[in-house]
Amino acid sequence: GETITVADLAQKLAMKGGEVVKALFKMGVMATITQSIDHDTAVLVTEELGHVALKADADNVEDALLAHVEETQGEKVVRPPVVTIMGHVDHGKTSLLDYIRRTKVVSGEAGGITQHIGAYHVETDRGVISFLDTPGHAAFSAMRARGAKLTDIVVLVVAADDGVKPQTKEAVQHAKAAKVPLIVAINKIDKSDADPLRVKNELLGEEVVAEEFGGDTQFVEISAKTGQGIDALLDAISIQAELLELTAVRDGRANGVVIESSLDKGRGPVATVLVQAGTLKKGDYLVCGVQYGRVRALFDERGEQVPEATPSIPVQVLGLSGVPDSGDDFVVVDDERLAKDVAQQRDAKRRESRLVAQAGNRMEDILAQM
Ligand code: GTP
Ligand code: MG
Repeated sequence: GETITVADLAQKLAMKGGEVVKALFKMGVMATITQSIDHDTAVLVTEELGHVALKADADNVEDALLAHVEETQGEKVVRPPVVTIMGHVDHGKTSLLDYIRRTKVVSGEAGGITQHIGAYHVETDRGVISFLDTPGHAAFSAMRARGAKLTDIVVLVVAADDGVKPQTKEAVQHAKAAKVPLIVAINKIDKSDADPLRVKNELLGEEVVAEEFGGDTQFVEISAKTGQGIDALLDAISIQAELLELTAVRDGRANGVVIESSLDKGRGPVATVLVQAGTLKKGDYLVCGVQYGRVRALFDERGEQVPEATPSIPVQVLGLSGVPDSGDDFVVVDDERLAKDVAQQRDAKRRESRLVAQAGNRMEDILAQM
């Protein structure tokens, strides 16, 4: 294993060599300043001396991690679009996602039913499309927090019998602020009081202009109940995706983002991640927020094991040390040590900032009582 001289360890701890020798002696380890001690002993004595044993300094490991992300370079290839569904309450977002999942995700032989893993992908004649099955606003909050794009296209669901409502307008604002193109799905077209023209007119007020009115927004009339227009909607998404010319590096170590996570009684921590670059494989070491681990298994939305996942494809990951937060980044690294170091550094940092925040709160309490 790894070793370090007592002198080097003392230097890292900003202590005198003699103090470390003394602490080691108390632990029953005889070592002089120039002698080497093993990794575990170094961690023990460091903790004995009241320090948190961080195996490398924080900036170094984060740099090493960043290098891993930057190394995933090379020829970019076309990748599928990642779609988020937004719209006013009860306008049919869940029904639409469920209809597509039920009819377009071919269920696995074993279970016969598709899994709810927070995201899924479908294959159409025009190519693959990935859907995030999370509330639209959650996807956008995660995007804002990360300053990165998680979704390429928003499908705005507007009920044809209800028209434009506050959350419809909010969704338009979100998409515009994030510069994500919209496709309008006028839903519930099967209803007798459906009025698609009214929806188009009302959206003019939000500067969402249908192609037939001289604008550049695709409108598709659908029914999430009967399935009418769903294929046309999938086509519209593929057309929009082609215009966006979405690409990603496909080879090399993967990185991406956590969509959803949970603790499963039998399987341990489970995270649904969206690969954004590279290829995630079974056996990979990864850092995921403050968690780390080795990919024990990957599952798709049909609950079937898959050997790998490429850009824009969501996949369930087993083998993490704990449950990451949705919106966390994940990065594949070349060895477990680095994965562990980064995760532990981040965890220590997070604890530290929590302590600082708590101290701040206490200070405010004291000041408030004065
Ligand atoms: P929230 O998650 O509460 O915001 O609602 P939602 O947008 O997910 O709507 P949901 O899919 O739950 O649908 C609301 C209601 O509208 C349900 O009773 C659906 O059965 C019904 N519904 C959804 N789509 C259609 C449709 O195309 N036609 C008809 N007739 N009913 C629909
Ligand atoms: Mg819903």
